[in-house]
Amino acid sequence: MKITYYGQNCFGFETEKATLLTDPFITGNDLAKDKIDIKNLNPDFIFLTHAHQDHTLDAEAIAKQSGATIVSNYEIANHYAAKDLETHPMNHGGSWEFSFGKVKYVNAIHTSSFPDGSYGGQPGGFVFSIDGKTIYMAGDTALTMDMKLIPLEFDLDVAILPIGDNFTMGIGDAVRASDFIECNNIIGCHYDTFGFIEIDHDGAKKAFSSVEKKLTLLEIGESIEL
Ligand code: NI
Ligand code: MN
Repeated sequence: MKITYYGQNCFGFETEKATLLTDPFITGNDLAKDKIDIKNLNPDFIFLTHAHQDHTLDAEAIAKQSGATIVSNYEIANHYAAKDLETHPMNHGGSWEFSFGKVKYVNAIHTSSFPDGSYGGQPGGFVFSIDGKTIYMAGDTALTMDMKLIPLEFDLDVAILPIGDNFTMGIGDAVRASDFIECNNIIGCHYDTFGFIEIDHDGAKKAFSSVEKKLTLLEIGESIEL
């Protein structure tokens, strides 16, 4: 499958049967807004890890133009269902077999309010099992012992981990997380978007390579084949 980075925690997954988009935050992202036109994004599904604006800002517009189904926790799904958008509610620990593959909603340690302060349920991450590949998207999270549950069930091909610190794990905890989830192939996210989360790219890559792991930092708009 083709994985494309759109900044912050927004990724596109082009799978055999469907196109997925995660946490769309593009029109408000100074690093992405001039490179990516959301009018060109027409996913079949939009996965939202939590309600914060840097994960949901463009979800409504993209869902309206594409007819995508929004998949998230129960409260976020209800928020969009009330806007007459297609939704699929999940909650922690639950899995669902979609048309394109299986998805599990897993724990994250963070908060989840909408920009107006309304309740956005509890934050989470997703484990995607699609086209024979398994991808863990942690979402915004601290390092948590719950990550040790993931390799009990999944043999990950790649993990998308936040590395920007301040609001989520920083590099040191992301390296520890990669041990917890037993995955040596990491794509970084949630860095450089604002001043609080600017990182040293070379230092981050060295922290992983020094323990025989690989950290990939994609350019916005760049794709890789998994
Ligand atoms: Ni957040
Ligand atoms: Mn965030």
